[in-house]
Amino acid sequence: PQRIRRGSYKVTTSKQIKISPSIAAGNLLKLQEEVDLISESGADAIHFDAMDGHFVPLLTLGVPFLEAIRSITNLHLDVHIMVSNPEQVVQQYLDAGADTLTFHPEMALHPHRLCTLIKSSGRQAGLALNPGTPWQSLIAMLPFVDQITVMAVNPGYSRQAHIAEMAKKVFELSQHLTTHSLKAEIQVDGGVNTTNILNLVHSGASHFVAGGAVMGSPDYKKAVSELRKAGAK
Ligand code: DX5
Ligand code: ZN
Repeated sequence: PQRIRRGSYKVTTSKQIKISPSIAAGNLLKLQEEVDLISESGADAIHFDAMDGHFVPLLTLGVPFLEAIRSITNLHLDVHIMVSNPEQVVQQYLDAGADTLTFHPEMALHPHRLCTLIKSSGRQAGLALNPGTPWQSLIAMLPFVDQITVMAVNPGYSRQAHIAEMAKKVFELSQHLTTHSLKAEIQVDGGVNTTNILNLVHSGASHFVAGGAVMGSPDYKKAVSELRKAGAK
């Protein structure tokens, strides 16, 4: 267990952190090369951002791209669907090979049914919370999920400014999970970098998405190991 620094939220952790580079933040003309580079970087997973042009403004990667990526890698695929109709598309993303499937409960009428569907397929279920959504809205769902993604940017684009106040959400959620002996892991998605990762670890997060911090670097392996180092001090 690590002691906290002054200014961090008071929590201790000994968990191994997981780093998931976001492939949508890479070169979309060279997806196969990007998959290979992420695989060789020592990252724990590929974060796959799906967008629909409704829940978020852009329309980028979707089911056929996930299938294509699944066909060339065994790396864990951490799929984040930023869509306004998760109920209609979750099965397609499961069929396409998502290992963890995260949707936004803000957009789901029956989040428990969706999580049950994901888990019954032998995959991990995740819920992602926009910066404006309180963690308390998830209390009833926490026993049924494997991962909670605290968005530290408004979803839609890579390389936006990290919203530092989200560390407080991570901390409160983490305290709640510990108090209630719940096993879900907390992931932070949005502007994670070597400067803010340690405070997020101390706040209780263990999984990190890295768009710009890895995909914007000339050396993915170095960038992943620098994030690990920065998160482990
Ligand atoms: C935000 C996406 C993120 C994004 C992260 O819309 O959900 O996964 O790609 O990129 P960075 O780390 O650059 O904020
Ligand atoms: Zn994401």
